[in-house]
Amino acid sequence: MGDSESPEDVQLEARLEEQEAFEPPESFVEQANVSDEAIYDEFAENWPDCWERAADLLDWEEEYDAVLDDSNEPFYEWFTDGKLNASANCLDRHVADGRGDEAAIEWVGELGETRTYTYAELLDEVEEFAAALRDLGVEEDDVVTMYMPMIPELPVAMLACARIGAPHSVVFAGFSADALATRMNSADSEYLVTCDGYYRRGDALDHKDKADEGLSGVDHGVDTVVVDRLGDDLDHDLGDGQHDYDDLVAEHEGASVDPVTRDAEDMLFLMYTSGTTGEPKGVKHTTGGYLSYVSWTSQAVLDIEADDTYWCSADIGWITGHSYIVYGPLALGTTSVMYEGTPDYPEKDRLWEIIEEYGVDIFYTAPTAIRAFMKWGKEYPAEHDLSSLRLLGTVGEPINPRAWKWYYKHIGNEECPIVDTWWQTETGGMMVTTLPGVNTMKPGSAGPPLPGVDAKVIHPNKAEVDPGQAGHLTVQKPWPGMLRTLYKNDERFVSEYWAEYSDADEDEWIYFPEDGAKIDDDGYITVLGRVDDVLNVSGHRLGTMEIESAIVGVEGVAEAAVVGGDHEMKGEAVYAYVITEDGYEEGDDLRDRIVEGVEDAIGPIARPEQVVFTPELPKTRSGKIMRRLLEDIANDDDLGDTSTLRNPDVVDDIQAKVGDD
Ligand code: WT7
Repeated sequence: MGDSESPEDVQLEARLEEQEAFEPPESFVEQANVSDEAIYDEFAENWPDCWERAADLLDWEEEYDAVLDDSNEPFYEWFTDGKLNASANCLDRHVADGRGDEAAIEWVGELGETRTYTYAELLDEVEEFAAALRDLGVEEDDVVTMYMPMIPELPVAMLACARIGAPHSVVFAGFSADALATRMNSADSEYLVTCDGYYRRGDALDHKDKADEGLSGVDHGVDTVVVDRLGDDLDHDLGDGQHDYDDLVAEHEGASVDPVTRDAEDMLFLMYTSGTTGEPKGVKHTTGGYLSYVSWTSQAVLDIEADDTYWCSADIGWITGHSYIVYGPLALGTTSVMYEGTPDYPEKDRLWEIIEEYGVDIFYTAPTAIRAFMKWGKEYPAEHDLSSLRLLGTVGEPINPRAWKWYYKHIGNEECPIVDTWWQTETGGMMVTTLPGVNTMKPGSAGPPLPGVDAKVIHPNKAEVDPGQAGHLTVQKPWPGMLRTLYKNDERFVSEYWAEYSDADEDEWIYFPEDGAKIDDDGYITVLGRVDDVLNVSGHRLGTMEIESAIVGVEGVAEAAVVGGDHEMKGEAVYAYVITEDGYEEGDDLRDRIVEGVEDAIGPIARPEQVVFTPELPKTRSGKIMRRLLEDIANDDDLGDTSTLRNPDVVDDIQAKVGDD
């Protein structure tokens, strides 16, 4: 970290390096939303009724009859027969409480322009857009797809959908046209909200082109709304069935749209995520359970209070943004900061500048970002007054203790607790993390399961592992934020998440998130990473099968195997081993076409770090590709015994090629 370290710095680093446990500062504990460790026992003794505490954070139009209905496991239902509306909970009730003039969203554009939406303003625009969507024909339960970058119209559109009971399906703007089409087809979605483009590093990027290309792959008619983000910087035309967002909102100026009454179990949104097969999974989240759960975890773990300024730097196109930029923070009536751009534009201090300017109290980001901050150097945060910060958080992948300590010292000034939160698209909200006002922190270990969450690390025989041993992370009781099913695919829901460890005859239902983990003497869980064929690249989940099918779709490719290799910044990087078809030449031309093929099918995030041409893939005698071996080769690890392979000779060959590149 730079070569200008003072002797004090060096001493401090040395002390930090050795320290393995950190207590939350007294000043934090005194004001924390949760500071009594008795909460763990209270939840355990009072389960599942403990979850009323989450439901109590919301306004219900009609009380629920039961906290949990487990009569049809694993299709659990929460807060059954309760009625509520998510947009009313995120907007109307705060305005009714006289908080209409307080900021709901502080938006910072990449070029430095800013917009503030007060709760009253956000409610107005949500109602206007909700009226417009209805006019376009959107009815309750119609799925509306959003394909938008980080602009305020994205949360507006989400909340407008929630208001009229139309589930949204947000597709990350960095995904390709093909990925958009696949998701719209899978969800039978006849409505799309997108934009003309956005800025990246100061350049205007066309997004509508990609959206249009995606639409050409949709097998049914679609009405599209286009936000004009770029104005004169990029002209765009509207085709048939395409409408301008500003025009629609203007036409419905002052409209009032009553929030529709939704059942607790009605779908709030779908979120597609990568799985082991090539087909993305449409994770279904509901109105009552999900909203209760993200509100509760926002309050208990992120310590959010209504008068805070809170910033989660994720993209709303992922679950983190849904839960902890939009729904959780707005349900609690706080100010949520939303940043359009990249952390190093125009300078590497962009995020610290925003924290200083807005007096951000709580900051939530990903380890991959922290690794980048470390590389850029501590001088960037040091230029700014970050003393408004009270709490820091991370999510998305394991954080190594060095990065944790850097974050603790150089961003938190050793005064902010850090919550390392383990969860997934499927869990809706956080599951394993310390409570910042209660627990000791251990860098590198997420912490104990949250109160009421029954996470256990087990062996294949379901016995719990001993401290220090690795096993599979499982969740052995349901929780309100859990996915309810995979869209129109109950069977896959059961086989993906419940089949591994459940025993239906014994009425034993165990959720398997497909992560490996270990546990220590204090019950702290260290998540080791995915145990399925899913990669975690810069905190983004990518299925190896999806990438492989994109690669074999490229002319000249006969076979491909994709694995993850360790990467200093990204955590994992995509390594593609490729066998060419007879008559095609290995080389840069084919390599370029492969990279392009992956970008077209999925998006630039899935771009292979290395494409290694090989005459054969290492296979077992039964013909299975030895992925572990390919991973070890990518990581330059010891390969151990390769004699069980059908073709052991190929290993040296591949190793030499990876080394060359
Ligand atoms: C996978 C879920 C949760 C929102 C962002 C990613 C990994 C997530 C942690 C953490 C270690 C983590 C897991 C998980 N993961 N958080 N704190 N420590 N690993 O959501 O795309 O659904 O990915 O991310 O492997 O299964 P996702």
